[in-house]
Amino acid sequence: MLGGSVFTAIVAASAASAHILLTYPGSRGNNLITNETHPYGMQWEYPCGGITTTKNRTYWPTTGGAVAFQPGWFQGHSTAFLYINLGFGTDGPHDGPMNMSNSMVPPFQMLGPSNSPFSGTVCLPQVPLPKNAKVKAGDLATIQVVELAQHGAALYSCVDIIFAEPGDPKIAEVNESNCFNTQELGFADVYTITVHEPVRDEEPLLSTSGAEETITMWYQSKHKQYSAWRWLGWAPVAIGGLIAFA
Ligand SMILES: *[C@@H]1O[C@H](CO)[C@@H](O)[C@H](O)[C@H]1NC(C)=O
Ligand SMILES: *[C@@H]1O[C@H](CO)[C@@H](O)[C@H](O)[C@H]1NC(C)=O
Ligand SMILES: *[C@@H]1O[C@H](CO)[C@@H](O)[C@H](O)[C@H]1NC(C)=O
Ligand SMILES: *[C@@H]1O[C@H](CO)[C@@H](O)[C@H](O)[C@H]1NC(C)=O
Repeated sequence: MLGGSVFTAIVAASAASAHILLTYPGSRGNNLITNETHPYGMQWEYPCGGITTTKNRTYWPTTGGAVAFQPGWFQGHSTAFLYINLGFGTDGPHDGPMNMSNSMVPPFQMLGPSNSPFSGTVCLPQVPLPKNAKVKAGDLATIQVVELAQHGAALYSCVDIIFAEPGDPKIAEVNESNCFNTQELGFADVYTITVHEPVRDEEPLLSTSGAEETITMWYQSKHKQYSAWRWLGWAPVAIGGLIAFA
Protein backbone atom coordinates (compact mmCIF):
# COMPACT_ATOMS: atom_id res chain seq x y z
CA MET A 1 0.00 0.00 0.00
CA LEU A 2 1.19 3.50 -0.73
CA GLY A 3 2.31 5.74 2.09
CA GLY A 4 -0.07 8.31 3.53
CA SER A 5 1.86 11.28 2.17
CA VAL A 6 1.69 10.05 -1.43
CA PHE A 7 -2.02 9.45 -1.00
CA THR A 8 -2.64 12.94 0.36
CA ALA A 9 -0.60 14.59 -2.38
CA ILE A 10 -2.52 12.88 -5.18
CA VAL A 11 -5.87 13.63 -3.58
CA ALA A 12 -4.96 17.30 -3.21
CA ALA A 13 -4.00 17.46 -6.89
CA SER A 14 -7.54 16.94 -8.16
CA ALA A 15 -11.06 17.83 -7.16
CA ALA A 16 -12.55 15.09 -9.39
CA SER A 17 -14.47 12.24 -7.78
CA ALA A 18 -13.58 8.57 -7.51
CA HIS A 19 -10.76 6.48 -9.04
CA ILE A 20 -9.18 3.05 -8.85
CA LEU A 21 -5.56 2.11 -8.41
CA LEU A 22 -4.87 -1.42 -9.65
CA THR A 23 -2.11 -2.77 -7.41
CA TYR A 24 -1.88 -6.49 -8.30
CA PRO A 25 -0.92 -7.88 -10.82
CA GLY A 26 0.06 -4.35 -11.90
CA SER A 27 -1.50 -1.74 -14.14
CA ARG A 28 -1.14 -0.16 -17.56
CA GLY A 29 0.08 2.93 -15.77
CA ASN A 30 -1.03 5.96 -13.82
CA ASN A 31 -4.33 7.27 -15.14
CA LEU A 32 -5.27 9.31 -12.08
CA ILE A 33 -4.83 12.34 -14.31
CA THR A 34 -6.97 15.34 -15.20
CA ASN A 35 -5.49 17.77 -17.73
CA GLU A 36 -6.42 19.57 -20.95
CA THR A 37 -6.42 16.36 -22.99
CA HIS A 38 -8.57 14.61 -20.40
CA PRO A 39 -10.62 17.43 -18.88
CA TYR A 40 -13.01 15.07 -17.09
CA GLY A 41 -10.22 12.80 -15.90
CA MET A 42 -8.56 9.98 -17.84
CA GLN A 43 -10.01 7.16 -15.83
CA TRP A 44 -13.56 7.66 -17.14
CA GLU A 45 -12.52 6.68 -20.66
CA TYR A 46 -13.62 3.24 -21.92
CA PRO A 47 -12.20 0.64 -21.93
CA CYS A 48 -9.00 1.21 -19.95
CA GLY A 49 -9.05 4.72 -18.57
CA GLY A 50 -7.28 6.41 -21.45
CA ILE A 51 -4.19 4.20 -21.62
CA THR A 52 -3.79 1.99 -24.68
CA THR A 53 -2.27 -1.50 -24.72
CA THR A 54 1.15 -1.70 -23.10
CA LYS A 55 4.18 -3.81 -24.00
CA ASN A 56 5.35 -4.35 -20.41
CA ARG A 57 2.91 -7.15 -19.67
CA THR A 58 2.82 -8.91 -16.36
CA TYR A 59 2.51 -12.68 -15.83
CA TRP A 60 -0.69 -14.16 -14.43
CA PRO A 61 -1.68 -17.83 -13.89
CA THR A 62 -3.54 -19.84 -16.55
CA THR A 63 -5.79 -21.04 -13.71
CA GLY A 64 -6.76 -17.53 -12.61
CA GLY A 65 -5.18 -15.62 -9.77
CA ALA A 66 -5.14 -12.57 -7.54
CA VAL A 67 -6.43 -9.11 -8.38
CA ALA A 68 -5.99 -6.26 -5.89
CA PHE A 69 -6.89 -2.60 -6.10
CA GLN A 70 -7.61 0.53 -4.11
CA PRO A 71 -11.08 1.77 -5.08
CA GLY A 72 -11.32 4.97 -3.05
CA TRP A 73 -8.91 7.46 -4.56
CA PHE A 74 -10.63 10.86 -4.56
CA GLN A 75 -14.03 11.58 -3.12
CA GLY A 76 -17.47 10.24 -3.94
CA HIS A 77 -17.03 6.53 -3.22
CA SER A 78 -18.97 5.64 -0.13
CA THR A 79 -20.48 2.92 -2.33
CA ALA A 80 -19.61 1.59 -5.78
CA PHE A 81 -20.26 -1.42 -7.97
CA LEU A 82 -17.25 -3.36 -9.12
CA TYR A 83 -16.76 -5.51 -12.21
CA ILE A 84 -13.73 -7.51 -13.29
CA ASN A 85 -13.52 -8.53 -16.94
CA LEU A 86 -11.06 -10.15 -19.28
CA GLY A 87 -10.35 -9.33 -22.90
CA PHE A 88 -8.50 -11.93 -25.00
CA GLY A 89 -5.68 -11.37 -27.43
CA THR A 90 -4.46 -8.44 -29.48
CA ASP A 91 -6.80 -8.42 -32.51
CA GLY A 92 -8.76 -5.36 -31.37
CA PRO A 93 -8.14 -1.61 -31.37
CA HIS A 94 -4.60 -0.46 -30.41
CA ASP A 95 -3.40 -4.10 -30.51
CA GLY A 96 -5.60 -4.86 -27.53
CA PRO A 97 -8.55 -7.25 -27.11
CA MET A 98 -11.55 -7.20 -29.48
CA ASN A 99 -13.76 -6.53 -26.46
CA MET A 100 -13.75 -6.59 -22.67
CA SER A 101 -17.05 -8.47 -22.43
CA ASN A 102 -15.96 -11.54 -20.47
CA SER A 103 -16.92 -11.35 -16.79
CA MET A 104 -14.59 -13.05 -14.34
CA VAL A 105 -16.63 -12.54 -11.16
CA PRO A 106 -20.25 -11.53 -10.58
CA PRO A 107 -20.51 -7.77 -9.99
CA PHE A 108 -20.33 -6.85 -6.34
CA GLN A 109 -20.83 -3.75 -4.27
CA MET A 110 -18.18 -2.09 -2.19
CA LEU A 111 -19.20 -0.22 0.93
CA GLY A 112 -16.65 2.44 1.76
CA PRO A 113 -16.19 4.25 5.05
CA SER A 114 -17.44 7.60 3.70
CA ASN A 115 -17.53 9.82 0.65
CA SER A 116 -14.08 11.16 1.50
CA PRO A 117 -11.09 9.54 -0.20
CA PHE A 118 -9.87 6.39 1.53
CA SER A 119 -6.84 4.23 1.00
CA GLY A 120 -8.48 0.85 1.64
CA THR A 121 -7.45 -2.09 -0.51
CA VAL A 122 -9.58 -4.86 -2.00
CA CYS A 123 -7.94 -8.25 -2.60
CA LEU A 124 -9.62 -11.01 -4.56
CA PRO A 125 -7.09 -13.81 -4.08
CA GLN A 126 -8.47 -16.21 -6.69
CA VAL A 127 -10.27 -14.56 -9.58
CA PRO A 128 -11.23 -17.34 -12.01
CA LEU A 129 -11.02 -17.15 -15.78
CA PRO A 130 -14.25 -16.23 -17.57
CA LYS A 131 -16.64 -19.14 -18.14
CA ASN A 132 -15.50 -21.50 -20.91
CA ALA A 133 -12.19 -19.67 -21.36
CA LYS A 134 -9.36 -21.83 -22.66
CA VAL A 135 -5.92 -20.33 -22.27
CA LYS A 136 -2.37 -21.62 -22.32
CA ALA A 137 0.94 -20.27 -21.11
CA GLY A 138 2.11 -17.46 -23.40
CA ASP A 139 -1.40 -16.27 -24.38
CA LEU A 140 -1.99 -12.53 -24.10
CA ALA A 141 -4.98 -10.90 -22.41
CA THR A 142 -6.08 -7.79 -20.56
CA ILE A 143 -7.75 -7.61 -17.15
CA GLN A 144 -10.16 -4.70 -16.74
CA VAL A 145 -11.49 -3.41 -13.41
CA VAL A 146 -14.60 -1.25 -13.71
CA GLU A 147 -15.84 0.84 -10.82
CA LEU A 148 -19.37 2.13 -11.26
CA ALA A 149 -19.71 5.36 -9.30
CA GLN A 150 -22.83 6.39 -7.41
CA HIS A 151 -24.03 8.58 -10.28
CA GLY A 152 -23.76 5.74 -12.85
CA ALA A 153 -20.59 6.68 -14.72
CA ALA A 154 -17.76 4.17 -14.82
CA LEU A 155 -14.05 4.32 -14.08
CA TYR A 156 -11.65 1.99 -15.87
CA SER A 157 -8.29 0.56 -15.06
CA CYS A 158 -6.52 -2.28 -16.87
CA VAL A 159 -3.45 -4.44 -16.82
CA ASP A 160 -2.05 -6.34 -19.80
CA ILE A 161 -1.02 -9.88 -18.94
CA ILE A 162 0.74 -12.94 -20.33
CA PHE A 163 -0.54 -16.23 -19.04
CA ALA A 164 1.95 -18.50 -17.26
CA GLU A 165 1.65 -21.93 -15.64
CA PRO A 166 0.76 -21.65 -11.94
CA GLY A 167 3.95 -21.70 -9.90
CA ASP A 168 6.00 -20.12 -12.67
CA PRO A 169 8.52 -17.84 -10.92
CA LYS A 170 7.72 -15.09 -13.46
CA ILE A 171 4.37 -14.63 -11.68
CA ALA A 172 4.80 -12.04 -8.92
CA GLU A 173 4.27 -13.55 -5.48
CA VAL A 174 0.94 -12.76 -3.83
CA ASN A 175 1.35 -11.92 -0.16
CA GLU A 176 -0.07 -9.85 2.68
CA SER A 177 1.74 -6.76 1.50
CA ASN A 178 0.33 -6.65 -2.03
CA CYS A 179 -3.05 -8.38 -1.63
CA PHE A 180 -5.10 -7.68 1.47
CA ASN A 181 -8.54 -6.47 2.46
CA THR A 182 -8.76 -3.42 4.66
CA GLN A 183 -11.17 -3.55 7.58
CA GLU A 184 -12.73 -0.22 6.60
CA LEU A 185 -14.27 -1.71 3.44
CA GLY A 186 -17.43 -3.78 3.35
CA PHE A 187 -18.94 -5.76 0.50
CA ALA A 188 -22.41 -6.76 -0.61
CA ASP A 189 -23.81 -9.15 -3.18
CA VAL A 190 -25.78 -7.58 -5.95
CA TYR A 191 -28.94 -9.21 -7.21
CA THR A 192 -32.15 -8.09 -8.85
CA ILE A 193 -35.78 -8.56 -7.97
CA THR A 194 -38.04 -8.48 -11.01
CA VAL A 195 -40.87 -6.08 -10.30
CA HIS A 196 -42.33 -6.23 -13.78
CA GLU A 197 -41.69 -8.85 -16.46
CA PRO A 198 -40.81 -7.34 -19.82
CA VAL A 199 -43.50 -7.58 -22.47
CA ARG A 200 -41.93 -9.28 -25.45
CA ASP A 201 -44.05 -8.82 -28.54
CA GLU A 202 -44.37 -11.75 -30.94
CA GLU A 203 -43.89 -9.43 -33.91
CA PRO A 204 -40.61 -7.56 -34.23
CA LEU A 205 -41.47 -3.89 -33.74
CA LEU A 206 -39.67 -2.64 -36.81
CA SER A 207 -41.06 -5.14 -39.32
CA THR A 208 -44.25 -3.30 -40.29
CA SER A 209 -44.91 -0.07 -42.16
CA GLY A 210 -46.57 1.26 -39.03
CA ALA A 211 -43.32 0.89 -37.14
CA GLU A 212 -43.01 4.48 -36.15
CA GLU A 213 -46.48 4.61 -34.66
CA THR A 214 -45.92 1.31 -32.89
CA ILE A 215 -42.74 2.54 -31.31
CA THR A 216 -44.37 5.77 -30.17
CA MET A 217 -47.20 3.86 -28.53
CA TRP A 218 -44.76 1.38 -27.01
CA TYR A 219 -42.67 4.20 -25.60
CA GLN A 220 -45.68 5.98 -24.17
CA SER A 221 -46.99 2.87 -22.47
CA LYS A 222 -43.55 2.04 -21.02
CA HIS A 223 -43.18 5.58 -19.84
CA LYS A 224 -46.50 5.43 -18.03
CA GLN A 225 -45.45 2.20 -16.31
CA TYR A 226 -42.14 3.69 -15.32
CA SER A 227 -43.89 6.68 -13.73
CA ALA A 228 -46.19 4.34 -11.86
CA TRP A 229 -43.22 2.40 -10.49
CA ARG A 230 -41.65 5.55 -9.25
CA TRP A 231 -44.86 6.65 -7.68
CA LEU A 232 -45.08 3.34 -5.83
CA GLY A 233 -41.54 3.84 -4.67
CA TRP A 234 -40.30 0.57 -6.12
CA ALA A 235 -36.67 0.16 -7.02
CA PRO A 236 -35.65 -2.57 -9.44
CA VAL A 237 -32.50 -3.59 -7.57
CA ALA A 238 -32.08 -4.64 -3.97
CA ILE A 239 -28.79 -5.30 -2.25
CA GLY A 240 -28.41 -7.42 0.83
CA GLY A 241 -32.04 -6.74 1.73
CA LEU A 242 -31.60 -2.99 1.45
CA ILE A 243 -33.04 -1.10 -1.48
CA ALA A 244 -30.27 0.43 -3.52
CA PHE A 245 -30.48 3.79 -5.23
CA ALA A 246 -33.23 4.80 -2.79
C1 LIG B 1 4.29 -0.49 -17.49
O1 LIG B 1 4.94 0.75 -17.68
C2 LIG B 1 4.22 1.88 -17.19
C3 LIG B 1 4.98 3.12 -17.63
O2 LIG B 1 6.26 3.10 -17.14
C4 LIG B 1 4.11 1.77 -15.68
O3 LIG B 1 3.43 2.87 -15.14
C5 LIG B 1 3.34 0.48 -15.35
O4 LIG B 1 3.26 0.32 -13.96
C6 LIG B 1 4.02 -0.72 -15.99
N1 LIG B 1 3.15 -1.88 -15.84
C7 LIG B 1 3.60 -3.08 -15.49
C8 LIG B 1 2.60 -4.15 -15.40
O5 LIG B 1 4.77 -3.28 -15.25
C1 LIG C 1 -2.37 14.70 -20.17
O1 LIG C 1 -1.85 13.52 -19.60
C2 LIG C 1 -1.69 12.46 -20.53
C3 LIG C 1 -1.19 11.24 -19.75
O2 LIG C 1 -0.02 11.51 -19.12
C4 LIG C 1 -0.73 12.86 -21.65
O3 LIG C 1 -0.65 11.80 -22.59
C5 LIG C 1 -1.23 14.12 -22.31
O4 LIG C 1 -0.28 14.57 -23.25
C6 LIG C 1 -1.46 15.21 -21.26
N1 LIG C 1 -2.02 16.40 -21.88
C7 LIG C 1 -1.53 17.63 -21.67
C8 LIG C 1 -2.22 18.75 -22.40
O5 LIG C 1 -0.55 17.86 -20.97
C1 LIG D 1 -15.38 -10.73 -27.95
O1 LIG D 1 -14.12 -11.09 -28.45
C2 LIG D 1 -13.95 -12.51 -28.61
C3 LIG D 1 -12.52 -12.74 -29.03
O2 LIG D 1 -11.71 -12.38 -27.95
C4 LIG D 1 -14.94 -13.00 -29.66
O3 LIG D 1 -14.81 -14.40 -29.80
C5 LIG D 1 -16.35 -12.66 -29.19
O4 LIG D 1 -17.25 -13.02 -30.20
C6 LIG D 1 -16.46 -11.18 -28.91
N1 LIG D 1 -17.77 -10.93 -28.31
C7 LIG D 1 -18.50 -9.88 -28.62
C8 LIG D 1 -19.78 -9.74 -27.89
O5 LIG D 1 -18.14 -9.08 -29.46
C1 LIG E 1 5.47 -9.77 -1.54
O1 LIG E 1 5.66 -10.07 -2.90
C2 LIG E 1 6.31 -9.07 -3.65
C3 LIG E 1 6.35 -9.52 -5.10
O2 LIG E 1 5.05 -9.61 -5.62
C4 LIG E 1 7.70 -8.83 -3.09
O3 LIG E 1 8.32 -7.77 -3.80
C5 LIG E 1 7.61 -8.47 -1.62
O4 LIG E 1 8.90 -8.41 -1.09
C6 LIG E 1 6.82 -9.53 -0.87
N1 LIG E 1 6.61 -9.07 0.49
C7 LIG E 1 6.70 -9.88 1.54
C8 LIG E 1 6.42 -9.25 2.87
O5 LIG E 1 6.97 -11.07 1.43
